[in-house]
Amino acid sequence: MQRVHIDVKNGYDVIIGQGLIKEAGRILKDTGISGKLGIVSDSNVAPLYLDALTSSLKEMGYEVISFVFPAGEQSKNLSTLSSILEFFAENGMTRKDTAIALGGGVTGDMTGFASGVYMRGISYVQIPTTLLACVDSSVGGKTAVDLDAGKNLAGVFIQPKVVIADTDTLKTLDKKTYADGMAEAIKTAILGDRELFEGLEKEEADEYIISRCVKYKGKIVSEDEFEMGVRKLLNLGHTPAHSIEKLSSYTIPHGHAVASGLGIMARASYKEGLLKKDICERILRLLEKYSLPTNTDFSSKDMAREAFFDKKRQKNSISVIKIRGIEDCIIENISLDKTEEIFEKGMASL
Ligand SMILES: NC(=O)c1ccc[n+]([C@@H]2O[C@H](COP(=O)([O-])OP(=O)(O)OC[C@H]3O[C@@H](n4cnc5c(N)ncnc54)[C@H](O)[C@@H]3O)[C@@H](O)[C@H]2O)c1
Ligand SMILES: [Zn+2]
Repeated sequence: MQRVHIDVKNGYDVIIGQGLIKEAGRILKDTGISGKLGIVSDSNVAPLYLDALTSSLKEMGYEVISFVFPAGEQSKNLSTLSSILEFFAENGMTRKDTAIALGGGVTGDMTGFASGVYMRGISYVQIPTTLLACVDSSVGGKTAVDLDAGKNLAGVFIQPKVVIADTDTLKTLDKKTYADGMAEAIKTAILGDRELFEGLEKEEADEYIISRCVKYKGKIVSEDEFEMGVRKLLNLGHTPAHSIEKLSSYTIPHGHAVASGLGIMARASYKEGLLKKDICERILRLLEKYSLPTNTDFSSKDMAREAFFDKKRQKNSISVIKIRGIEDCIIENISLDKTEEIFEKGMASL
């Protein structure tokens, strides 16, 4: 078992290991959580893990209620958010009570948002059950729902009280969903962890991968909780990824789009003379090792246009992250023309 502390204003621990759902009641008691617990989960995760979690919490004397929504990104909207809030209210949740997200990034993002606005803010706990949620979305306090106008357009910053990552839950993930999380882990390794990068090139246990990613994300988040500067680095590969997600009408999952984005930015960085060819090739090989894409069929023109309608648009420029080496990435603000040129370079073969 590993415990990583996230050093923000109301700091919290991320606990990573096997069999932790059975320990959840004790962990919450140790964290000082009292009152009623409102679990939110999706229709795939609930049949697998809701009973075990509920038993563990009840054993420690907690009163537990649970809300299950239909699994999938298409549920991450204001309508489901509203149902969660009404559910909390109908069941008499007060400001002393705590919400629990049991599921992947979709569940975590919506439960966090609901906790941030219900009665102007209640506590919440993350129990991530996808690799993506373990290595990325459950830590850092960003929450959101999608609007018709685009993804993640409404949300709040709210940090959880504790994150419990039970690596046993990852065993029921299909290969593709597991690979989605691996794309974010590879991103983290490129940004700030050479040892993790080399570990991923061989074979590493989930617990090791998650704890390394959480340590890095925790460090960045503690330096820049509200993404005013250095936290933007975590968007490596995400400018092209967001365009790919939008152009595919969200049929390509986030992690797969991030993998394509990493491949595109690695090739573009090489072509601009910033990144050595052998490191570029290692990045591409690592993505391929997990059956992830490294490119896209969308045109560089469409990709650039979509990027300029992203919520991260800044006046006449957007920021992209370029790779100079492992543990050496830089943020650059670029114009629409330059964005198209970079995507073009990144999408052509080496
Ligand atoms: N807040 C952040 O910082 C942040 C960061 C990255 C991504 N995100 C968001 O996260 C979301 C993607 O997360 P995701 O990939 O976890 O999606 P998800 O929550 O939809 O989970 C993917 C699929 O796996 C299923 N599933 C979850 N756990 C399972 C398990 N243990 N066994 C079997 N099936 C399981 C789910 O039901 C779903 O069908 C996106 O909405 C993205 O915007 C947020
Ligand atoms: Zn991401």
